[in-house]
Amino acid sequence: MEKTGKIIDGAKISEEIRQGLRREVEALASRGVTPGLAVVLVGEDPASQVYVRRKNKSCVDLGLASFSHELPADCTQDRLLGLIAELNADSRVHGILVQLPLPKQIDEHKVLLAIDPDKDVDGFHPVNVGKMLSGEPGFLPCTPAGCQQLLIRSGYNPDGKHVVIVGRSNIVGKPLAAILMQKAPGANATVTICHSRTRDLPSITRQGEILIAAIGVPRFIKADMVKEGAVVIDVGVNRVADATAKAGYRLVGDVDFEEVKAKVEAITPVPGGVGPMTIVMLMKNTVQSARRTLEEA
Ligand code: GUN
Repeated sequence: MEKTGKIIDGAKISEEIRQGLRREVEALASRGVTPGLAVVLVGEDPASQVYVRRKNKSCVDLGLASFSHELPADCTQDRLLGLIAELNADSRVHGILVQLPLPKQIDEHKVLLAIDPDKDVDGFHPVNVGKMLSGEPGFLPCTPAGCQQLLIRSGYNPDGKHVVIVGRSNIVGKPLAAILMQKAPGANATVTICHSRTRDLPSITRQGEILIAAIGVPRFIKADMVKEGAVVIDVGVNRVADATAKAGYRLVGDVDFEEVKAKVEAITPVPGGVGPMTIVMLMKNTVQSARRTLEEA
């Protein structure tokens, strides 16, 4: 039989976390609180539409209130800032997520700054970024937090390991490095970040006992870039043309899965790896935010 690494099942692991959240949502309901998440989508980017739909569905499934706001692609920055001010003031809303990327007439930084840090379930507000970096409690960004949980819960605790991250985005690469290097259980990793300007990338990725790909280039990581026996987390979600698929495309990760899986200890699939984890971490942040309003009351 062909040798293959273990496939890390993100759908199954996210479901375990979801079960715990269900109990918390019931406990909150008994105290008269329904956690509420507002999701704002500007424009009609098809991938963003899919993500937003999944987030709404996930809320409904867990018994959370979901407030969906869709604004046109030519929406002004002021209109979006006005909506955020309303959501900041709305006591039914415990979490606010503005789907990125935004159209070019809108300054992303200004928008993220306008969200109340106590409702910033994406963890993108500079206050929460600062808390994350200094190891204070706050909202952790969902995809990096999901990657960390995926590692811990599949038996590959990053503690003491050399983790190589390919990609330096504000959404994944940078926060993931900050989370995994913390002096904390489930972290304590030695982290290297690589990016498009890294010289001799393969020589560095081959050092990773845990290799995390978050670059947004389909099947970029090949077998010769991976250490034998590594654990590989693929954050990429890329659409590639496929005439045999009903939609005319299919989703592939940043890792050449077929090539790499034979060489590794374990690997996440796309879809069904990191994706479901991101959504459940968003739900967790929203429930945490709702719980905090009770603690403060
Ligand atoms: N676009 C891609 N990933 C994310 C995310 O985690 N949050 C938001 N708001 N937008 C995204």
